[in-house]
Amino acid sequence: MSATILWGKLYAEKLKSEARAKIIELSEKTGIAPGLAVIIVGGNPASQVYVRNKHKTCEEMGINSQIVALAENTGRQELIDNIEKLNNDKGIHGILLQLPLPKGLQKYENEFLYKISPVKDVDGFHPINAGRLSIGEKCMVPCTPLGCIKMMELADIPIEGKKAVIIGRSNIVGKPMANLLLARNATVTVCHSHTADLAKIAAEADILVAAVGRPNFVTADMVKSGAVVIDVGINRIAPKKITGDVDFDNVKEKAGFITPVPGGVGLLTIAMLMHNTVEAAKMQLL
Ligand code: GUN
Repeated sequence: MSATILWGKLYAEKLKSEARAKIIELSEKTGIAPGLAVIIVGGNPASQVYVRNKHKTCEEMGINSQIVALAENTGRQELIDNIEKLNNDKGIHGILLQLPLPKGLQKYENEFLYKISPVKDVDGFHPINAGRLSIGEKCMVPCTPLGCIKMMELADIPIEGKKAVIIGRSNIVGKPMANLLLARNATVTVCHSHTADLAKIAAEADILVAAVGRPNFVTADMVKSGAVVIDVGINRIAPKKITGDVDFDNVKEKAGFITPVPGGVGLLTIAMLMHNTVEAAKMQLL
């Protein structure tokens, strides 16, 4: 039997309307709308599309959106000065530094991310937030793994007691995903490029999360019948063609639930950015 396809649009709309209700409540209490600043350095075309989408979504939601567009040749100190200015700006409650940075700044990436005030860190990349997540404290959670969890919760997919396997150990997806699943009482295995018998481990998963960055990496033989397959991959295979990490056409015949790419969890990432911005504003204003 073919899997139920988890289309992101439905869940993203629901999560955005929840955030919108909180924005209205916050504005009734304080008279203030949340403010999000997105810093983009240079002219990476994909990043420009992402930043425009974030700006548009903010406008739809009633979030004040500020784009700080800096030149490709921006220096280290100039970028730090911009971050610090936003840290001190009372109208800005969330700050996101769009990645990737231009080549010349990449070696300072962590330094920049760690300059963002942890309370305004809507990406959840600051070590204070990563640390809090790992010990189960309230914090800013990275948007993509949070979106995956919210989608499963809204789809009534049970997590507690399930075997979850994550392929990929990045700080942005794999590790926070492991912590979020652990906090919901799943038994979690994280696989990566050095894992022996990866296919065998993946095939034992009730919940399989693919965050590898390789098209068609997860094939049907790596998936247990009826498993929940969450595809976090965004692979550009042609100028206008994006595909995930999962061999969708074959895996969907075996899985119980599957997320498509495009149209799957990617749409929830932006909804979670809105959610995090509202939560950051509430923390700072209430
Ligand atoms: N570039 C692509 N995805 C992301 C993201 O989630 N956060 C940031 N800061 N940059 C990105």
